[in-house]
Amino acid sequence: MGILDLSGRGALVVGGGQGMGRATALLLAQAGANPAVVDAEQARAESVAGEIEALGCKSAALTADVTNREEVQGLIVAADEAVGPLDIVVNIVGGASWAPLLSVDDATWERDFDVNLRHHLYVSQAAARNWVDQERPGVLCVVASISGMFGAARHGAYGAAKAGVLNFVKTAAEEWWPHGIRVNCVVPGTVRTPRMEAEWAAGTTPRPSTDLLGTIAEPEDIGGAITFLVSDLARKITGQALVVDGGWTTRFPYSLT
Ligand SMILES: NC(=O)c1ccc[n+]([C@@H]2O[C@H](COP(=O)([O-])OP(=O)(O)OC[C@H]3O[C@@H](n4cnc5c(N)ncnc54)[C@H](O)[C@@H]3O)[C@@H](O)[C@H]2O)c1
Repeated sequence: MGILDLSGRGALVVGGGQGMGRATALLLAQAGANPAVVDAEQARAESVAGEIEALGCKSAALTADVTNREEVQGLIVAADEAVGPLDIVVNIVGGASWAPLLSVDDATWERDFDVNLRHHLYVSQAAARNWVDQERPGVLCVVASISGMFGAARHGAYGAAKAGVLNFVKTAAEEWWPHGIRVNCVVPGTVRTPRMEAEWAAGTTPRPSTDLLGTIAEPEDIGGAITFLVSDLARKITGQALVVDGGWTTRFPYSLT
């Protein structure tokens, strides 16, 4: 095993059934960890757990809707028993709506906050509580979005919820460092996931231009950053947001010529 060695670490990837969650689960396994996969879609969780086992690692397929606190309760214990003790919890669950602030309705606003922010409290709290009770250290990594850093027309509910994730990570890091728990997030630009491919094809989400590096990020680009942040290479990094956007957000915001 190389310098990024997660041999024998118990891991849980929430939303690991496709896209960047699947990529992260497979990268964690390639680094030697034993990642359990949770997804709202059972077939997706089973498929990725099978891919992980084919790599020679332990895994488990768990099904839950993590926006429901009750469904999260048993999740950490189940993963702990299956692949644990857990050292690493990653939560990538999220999804976007499009509606202007002048007319966005309560249902849309609440859905975006449920799908993008509320479950970070449920999952992170349950994981941290488990580590505190067991007097074990742990590491959490969640996924935000550059939409949480900028205004974007018709994207207000998603952006506000993702901005909440950026703050949640800082407060969780601040409150939980005395227990040996690190908390970080990865902040993607656009990523070519199956969901995005479908939305671009349907015309429901604008297809972006390529980034400064000339491409659009792949799920593995986000998974790689997450794998670094949960490893010992990042042992002095907590409360941080690592932007992985191919340089999009480095541009000066208006023309100087
Ligand atoms: N794809 C992008 O361009 C992009 C850009 C910026 C940020 N993000 C963020 O990255 C994350 C992952 O994006 P993706 O495109 O890989 O998503 P995705 O929809 O392809 O994958 C998410 C997985 O989570 C599962 N899931 C959804 N809701 C769930 C719930 N309530 N409980 C349990 N599992 C649930 C889905 O079944 C799916 O397998 C999201 O937080 C998204 O907001 C994506």
